[in-house]
Amino acid sequence: MFPKEFLWGGAIAANQAEGAYLEGGKGLSIADVLPVGAQRIGKVSLALEKDTHYPSHDAIDFYHRFEEDIDLLAELGIKCFRTSIAWSRIFPKGDELIPNEAGLLFYDRLFNKLKEKGIEPVVTLSHFETPLHLVTEYGGWLNRKLIDCFDRYTKVVFDRYKNQVKYWLTFNEINHAHTIPFLAAAIDVTAITNEREKLQSIYQASHNMLVASAKAVLNGKAVNPANQIGCMLSLSPIYPATCNPADVFESYQLRRRSLFYSDVQLRGEYPKYFDRIIKENQLALVIEPADLAILSRGTCDYLGFSFYRSSLHEAGMKILGNTGGLLGKKNPYLEETEWGWPIDPLALRYVCNELTDRYQKPLFIVENGVGVRDEFNEQRQIIDKERMRYLNDHVAAMAEAIKDGSDILGYTWWGPIDIVSAGTGEMEKRYGFIHVDKLNDGSGSLSRTKKASFNYYRQIIQTNGLNR
Ligand code: BG6
Repeated sequence: MFPKEFLWGGAIAANQAEGAYLEGGKGLSIADVLPVGAQRIGKVSLALEKDTHYPSHDAIDFYHRFEEDIDLLAELGIKCFRTSIAWSRIFPKGDELIPNEAGLLFYDRLFNKLKEKGIEPVVTLSHFETPLHLVTEYGGWLNRKLIDCFDRYTKVVFDRYKNQVKYWLTFNEINHAHTIPFLAAAIDVTAITNEREKLQSIYQASHNMLVASAKAVLNGKAVNPANQIGCMLSLSPIYPATCNPADVFESYQLRRRSLFYSDVQLRGEYPKYFDRIIKENQLALVIEPADLAILSRGTCDYLGFSFYRSSLHEAGMKILGNTGGLLGKKNPYLEETEWGWPIDPLALRYVCNELTDRYQKPLFIVENGVGVRDEFNEQRQIIDKERMRYLNDHVAAMAEAIKDGSDILGYTWWGPIDIVSAGTGEMEKRYGFIHVDKLNDGSGSLSRTKKASFNYYRQIIQTNGLNR
């Protein structure tokens, strides 16, 4: 059923786990100016404010505790571990010419530890953590200067970790440039009221990132042609709310807005439907002559994507996210989490089929999981049935997708150890099989405790997906 070499794993991001936000010469990243609260991804303040708790500053202190955390994850039996390199550890401001050796050493130690435990690293080059200086000085990805900065950064890390890392991802959820432009593209469009101008900024930043992604692929392949370099998109699906053709077509167009990114990153050229988007919105994109050749040469080897839920879209509904009105219309057939995310395992099979049909390239489910508020019982245990059910049902859906013909390289559960939520900055929206004693206000001993789901996932991995 699951291939023998299937990469069962877990995924985190540097800014949501490491903490130590200024240690080892690290500079501030955009994640470091985001406070707690659901409004954090909409409201942008580029300076740190007094008496404000910034969850990334300490996070779960993975920076100091990664050895014991990797020991626990090794006990869980994971075959691979996805994390990101915090760009601002390597180039604290982003535009230096010489990398920061202390930052490079940290990831040497981390990747060596993974190697020692026989765990394959899967490394994201940029996970919502662009160095802040690149925003304040150059305006983020709107500026082509960032292509050069990223080029320098990726050359350094591909070279440094050539013996430790084989699986890479370029930009995390690049299609979120539309939804959360500050996190995904390091641009602040909150003051732009004109829709055309907003799109102009988003697509220009996107173009620059797509070129940077393609250059990264070329850099990685130049260092080692065996490197496997993927793109990464948020691809929870959108269903039309009804069979009204207007709902169906608008949902399709919205899906294309996301798939536009993988169309470019996997096929190496702008899709035909993009001409109309340019024309109708009078976009004036700066595309340099060499860019198109770079896009065509620097295509990705596989499609990494996150999947959490599905949503319903109705024509005319205000589009807030890649899945429509953010949480979409209520789906009467599905249960929801406390955070209003509909639980829909069959949609994972649906998406794997959709993506296989479209690209005929390997897929890698690099994020899937459920945010739950966990409670200790009287025996000081967490019996997280909701998480186990979610895991079981999504693994079953993935097994079906493989039978349908999808080539799936692996599956990395999001946040196998509790980490800071990207969307809300909360600690109490927990995904982990390992509990971390920390609350939303930053208090807690940081001690780690296994939940019931720990053994459950371990069994799934041990039996290669059979024992659920
Ligand atoms: C994805 C991100 O959007 O979803 C992660 O790549 C994030 O960084 C995950 O943590 C889950 O979202 P949240 O808001 O529950 O943390």
